[in-house]
Amino acid sequence: MSDVLITMHGVSKSFGSLCALDGLDLSVSRGEIVGILGANGAGKSTAMRLAVGYLAVDRGTIRLAGYDVARNALAARRSVGYLPEGMPLWGEMRVGAFLSSVAELRGLNRVARGIAIERVVQALSLGEVIERTIDRLSKGYRRRVGLAQALLHDPEVLILDEPSDGLDPNQKHVLRKMVRDLSKRKSILLSTHALDEVEALCDRAVVLHRGRIVAGGTPRSLVENASKKALKGEGTALEQAFRSYTMG
Ligand SMILES: Nc1ncnc2c1ncn2[C@@H]1O[C@H](COP(=O)(O)OP(=O)(O)OP(=O)(O)O)[C@@H](O)[C@H]1O
Ligand SMILES: [Mg+2]
Repeated sequence: MSDVLITMHGVSKSFGSLCALDGLDLSVSRGEIVGILGANGAGKSTAMRLAVGYLAVDRGTIRLAGYDVARNALAARRSVGYLPEGMPLWGEMRVGAFLSSVAELRGLNRVARGIAIERVVQALSLGEVIERTIDRLSKGYRRRVGLAQALLHDPEVLILDEPSDGLDPNQKHVLRKMVRDLSKRKSILLSTHALDEVEALCDRAVVLHRGRIVAGGTPRSLVENASKKALKGEGTALEQAFRSYTMG
């Protein structure tokens, strides 16, 4: 079996007259963590929604764990855990009941559900809030519940839209360690605005600008290949490189 678990080839998507993605090519191998960077509105979340089949592509193909997302939607969805941008759905449910329902939808039997829930509750320190209503949790805890549901069925592919958004510094650390540990067996695609996270976590990153990839490579190569003229001003080298790729 191929060890490239995420492939996006020539993927385009428009909303009316707005072209949100224009011919995106991207692949992630097992063991790799790839970051999608880009300014607000660049197309990061759209790429991820297309990857998990929440939106249909206009053109192009997407494969998850070898399954074509359009032709073999069920198998593709089974192989992926997805953390959407923003809040989890079903906010009126209690955390424990929510995780149990998701595990059931994922086809886990009663015993496997118990084991899986215990695992993610431990990993994300959710024990204290298990009886609380999701909508009433703080933002960071809601984010952690979202991460927990993405991990329940131990998928081969993880697609995480701004996973560290809203997390406190300790939880960011926990998240990074967890993602790194998980990545040994999986392909992980994540988006982030935190460029220090890219340096700490990602093997490679692509920079999206107005729906197109304008740069890609290791965090170091993104810095090395940025326009030297632009490498000045405030911020780390990667922040400056990011500016140079996404201005204009
Ligand atoms: N359902 C939709 N209908 C119409 N336009 C949309 C829809 N979803 C996204 N867009 C537009 O597509 C473009 C890309 O949006 P997207 O959410 O992918 O950006 P993003 O890179 O995730 O930005 P952010 O950093 O703010 O999360 C934006 O111009 C956005 O307004
Ligand atoms: Mg987004």
